[in-house]
Amino acid sequence: MNIIQTKDYNEMSRKAANLISAQIIMKPDCVLGLATGSTPEQTYAYLVDAYNNGDLDFSKVSSVNLDEYRGLTPDNDQSYRYFMQKNLFDHVNIKRENTFVPDGMELDAKKVCKDHDDIMRKLGGIDLQLLGLGLNGHIGFNEPSDDFPKGTHCVDLTESTIQANSRFFASIDEVPTQAYTMGIQSIMMAKKILIIVNGEAKADIVAKAFLGPVTPQVPASILQMHPDVTLVADEAALSIYNKQLKELND
Ligand code: GLP
Repeated sequence: MNIIQTKDYNEMSRKAANLISAQIIMKPDCVLGLATGSTPEQTYAYLVDAYNNGDLDFSKVSSVNLDEYRGLTPDNDQSYRYFMQKNLFDHVNIKRENTFVPDGMELDAKKVCKDHDDIMRKLGGIDLQLLGLGLNGHIGFNEPSDDFPKGTHCVDLTESTIQANSRFFASIDEVPTQAYTMGIQSIMMAKKILIIVNGEAKADIVAKAFLGPVTPQVPASILQMHPDVTLVADEAALSIYNKQLKELND
């Protein structure tokens, strides 16, 4: 695993955007796996800047999103489709028909999951998957569990995730309790993975995920087994990881 430490959130975002830009420049018709949450917001803003400066062309890029809340309409400002439009898609020349976010309004879970897996297969797989990290170690919405889920599936969100995500909603009762998410196998099949993490609140889970045992109780720990993962994280998020690594080496 390649670890890039940055001094703060802004530098993390700039470096992550540079890595995604490199992917688009190297392969203009690449397939990007995209993430939502507060962590990638500034990364997307830097990609929009690069596009506005004439450095990036999204016209041949396809994108597949990790997850979507079940039951939210695309125009609900908390849906992940809305997030992607607002933070990236509306500001660059990506074609709407080349952007795929699981359909939150389709309540037939089997259909949504099969459609999403079929799309990834048809596109020939993901070249670069961007990930954030949940406080409990989730990636996408793969919550801690007894095994690693494979393909796209419908999940019951844990209390801790509902709590963490309630900051975006008017009240906790409005947070959906279910979501559709790519599975661990789909994520692991991406050719390259870029995971971005910032802030002291995530320091404990960063150490557990990347120094601890590989276990479905910490879903992100599976990334230790992927051949091409880059973690871009700020000093605060890496503080416990660095301390534990030093102790191991002393
Ligand atoms: C959310 C999303 C994840 C995201 C994570 C962290 O629930 N489903 O894709 O990476 O939780 O969110 P944040 O970046 O806001 O801390």
